[in-house]
Amino acid sequence: MLVTMITMSLATNAKKETWTTIQNGEVWLTAEGDTVQAHAPGFLYEGGRWYMVGEDRSHPWNPDVNLYSSTDLQHWRLERKIIENGVTDRRLGRSRMIERAKLLKNPRTGKYVVWCHWESKNYGASEAACFEAGSVDGQYRLVWSGRPLGIKSRDCNVFVDNDGQAYFISTTEENQHLGLFRLADDYLSATEHTQLFPGQRREAPVIVNVQGRYFMLCSACSGWAPNQCKYATSDNLQQGWTQLQDVGDATCYRTQAAAVLEIRGTKQTTYLYVGDRWMDPTLPETKTIIFPISFDGNTCQMHYRDQFEINFKTGEWRDAKPQQHRRSAR
Ligand code: GAL
Repeated sequence: MLVTMITMSLATNAKKETWTTIQNGEVWLTAEGDTVQAHAPGFLYEGGRWYMVGEDRSHPWNPDVNLYSSTDLQHWRLERKIIENGVTDRRLGRSRMIERAKLLKNPRTGKYVVWCHWESKNYGASEAACFEAGSVDGQYRLVWSGRPLGIKSRDCNVFVDNDGQAYFISTTEENQHLGLFRLADDYLSATEHTQLFPGQRREAPVIVNVQGRYFMLCSACSGWAPNQCKYATSDNLQQGWTQLQDVGDATCYRTQAAAVLEIRGTKQTTYLYVGDRWMDPTLPETKTIIFPISFDGNTCQMHYRDQFEINFKTGEWRDAKPQQHRRSAR
């Protein structure tokens, strides 16, 4: 009897360790019961943990930046508030908004770098900012803020290529274009600008490198209201991008892109799209939505699920078993 019980509990634990259920559409809570506030998140995988930075929208119009960590993208631990309005730096007045904070680790300096959109109330500043710390949960200091290479810059992201070369990518010149900014070796300044998708008014950019082919996901500019996600591909970041094409449904499953994560397992690599379901129904209750996205040759497909399972070890994902659907089980 005892032996059977031990075997059963081992089997249950083994299953738990192998497959993680990702449930979409709910507010994430920490173990302490606090809402996870890290919207428009940026991610860094290090030492078996996902570090996530993002907007603390519990002060809806003056977000600070929080850092969380997790081993399964579902259970998040607050590491610390890494950027605080009016506190981190005097120049960071209380009227500034920090949006779309993204986290990088520089392999040369060993330092952690945050790039973000650094904005005034009416979005007139159109600036970016860069912070640096000696450890991931360390004291971040403001390195620089302004318009990168003098170019007005709003929604943003970062991208690190396989060779360690990093880029800041943002919506430029009053939301007209996307700007690809090559970063210096220390990741602390922009050194070169390439204008992409001129006049196409795209934002929330995400770049991913899939076996040497770059994919760019982006949305139209419609504030908090979701719209059609589009993508383009190229084998060169600076040129040769295809026309933007639709992917997913007309509202990108009511989300706007923030990141694509690569889960490289022993059997396969799965890519996970991460987006914000803004104002659901309020800004602080904005949901972080995760679902598989696949890239094949020149095409990209989204596989939205309310719930799915992922095996972080093998890299496989599958539909959640029907009896595990919490809603339908009720
Ligand atoms: C969106 C943008 C968000 C935020 C919002 C404010 O278009 O992607 O990051 O700036 O507008 O309305």
